[in-house]
Amino acid sequence: RTDPFDHRVRDLALATAGRHQIRLAEHEMPGLMALRRELGDAQPLAGARIAGSLHMTVQTAVLIETLTALGAQVRWASCNIFSTQDEAAAAVVVGRPESGGSPEEPAGVPVFAWKGESLADYWWCTEQILRWPAPEGAGQQGPNLILDDGGDVTMLVHEGLAAENRGAVPGDPKPGERGYSEEKLVVLDTLRRIIAAEPTFFSRVAAGIGGVSEETTTGVHRLEQLAASGDLLFPAINVNDSVTKSKFDNRYGIRHSLPDGLNRATDVLMGGKTAFVAGYGDVGKGAAEALRGQGARVIVSEIDPICALQAAMDGYRVARLEDVVGEVDFVITTTGNVDVVRAEHILAMKDKAVLGNIGHFDNELDIAGLAATPGVEKVEIKPQVHEWLLPADTAPDGAARPERSVIVLSEGRLLNLGNATGHPSFVMSTSFANQVLAQVELHRGADYLEVADGETPRVHRLPKVLDEKVARDHLAALGAQLTELTKDQAEYIGVDVAGPYKSEHYRY
Ligand code: NAI
Repeated sequence: RTDPFDHRVRDLALATAGRHQIRLAEHEMPGLMALRRELGDAQPLAGARIAGSLHMTVQTAVLIETLTALGAQVRWASCNIFSTQDEAAAAVVVGRPESGGSPEEPAGVPVFAWKGESLADYWWCTEQILRWPAPEGAGQQGPNLILDDGGDVTMLVHEGLAAENRGAVPGDPKPGERGYSEEKLVVLDTLRRIIAAEPTFFSRVAAGIGGVSEETTTGVHRLEQLAASGDLLFPAINVNDSVTKSKFDNRYGIRHSLPDGLNRATDVLMGGKTAFVAGYGDVGKGAAEALRGQGARVIVSEIDPICALQAAMDGYRVARLEDVVGEVDFVITTTGNVDVVRAEHILAMKDKAVLGNIGHFDNELDIAGLAATPGVEKVEIKPQVHEWLLPADTAPDGAARPERSVIVLSEGRLLNLGNATGHPSFVMSTSFANQVLAQVELHRGADYLEVADGETPRVHRLPKVLDEKVARDHLAALGAQLTELTKDQAEYIGVDVAGPYKSEHYRY
């Protein structure tokens, strides 16, 4: 299909409801609105064709419409099967009120996302954002920029190109073989299908892409691995490690959206209960603070002694999951790592304990291992909330265990987006202002992104002045008055009056 309004969402009749929410979100997203005001006339994204893969929420709608207000063309998919808000997706397709679009004749942006996609749907949607309509008389087009959250689009392009260069998609692995999850098999099928139809699809698409901006910790890890092996195909901007992203969204965003997800999913009281948080990075810090704020006693686990010591100094008990698993009411993973909660842990949990993950991928919890345990049964309480019935058995220490159950949220996928609506607008405005600035930097080809002769592309961060600008653009809305340096003070501490105010290694 080359129709510019090709799209796939739940129901365009939801657009009015979505538009109301977007209008209120705009009020709470001063950073994005400041960029529209400052850069709208200059159109710095004119000519940009952005393939975006990021949770299709109300806040993301404001991001998308900021990118188009700056001149970009955009195609969008969600980066998680459960995170789309269908009304936001519909409103973006129909378009802003001044576009004159309607559900019958949409005039907005092609979105391919709905809440509750299958894995096959998910990868089909991801493929659609790489397929751009050919302008009249011109050859086929692809995106020239990627905006990624978790790195799935970037991964698809890299793996697709590698398969084309090798002349083969990796063969048929055995399901369950390490590294070949159900999802991996779907990805391989997707690659096979695309390459069978057009053997040089990924070569064509990859050649057109000038860069990627990446939203989250896990996606940045993937990019750094590609850069380290010399395989990264285009320059990347690590948006996550802007201070105004990871020290705000990952922390204060989670502090808001973790309890939101737990409440909407279960409505189980947190006060007086014991909660376990795996990982004490930025997300773990926000999670632990939120649970403590609700009156829970919080236990933290860490593999990094620095973060473990931070947790201890912040007043949390630091322990290993296996040593406390039988006494906790909530288990929340925030590590971005694999197999953190394994089937043997789940079998040792208290009756009706709540188990959820808030890290990017579902492999922190070994749900496949749980499903493969003899005698377990899964009961749907409501979408994204499942009770797993565990049979009477004998614990490894020989104790008899009666029948019991645990509640698993969003099938192990990030529960703040699966069971609730993710972070609130204000904090997403700080993240997404960085995303917009990163796209502008990539599109204008900022000097520091240049790939020197004989070198391969690298992963960069935004200049600190832009990070400070994002923070500055959010102060007025909170009534915060910034103190201005005098010239003498600036000289005394060796900075410019206009910033940047800290060295690169300052940790905030
Ligand atoms: P981080 O790197 O700051 O923190 C992760 C922490 O987990 C580290 O301190 C690490 O030492 C620890 N860790 C690793 N393996 C562990 C294990 N086996 N047991 C205990 N601790 C372990 O990363 P950040 O920024 O906190 O992100 C964590 C995850 O959350 C990532 O996957 C990220 O992409 C995702 N994320 C999710 C968001 C959401 O809305 N759900 C928002 C932001 C990030």
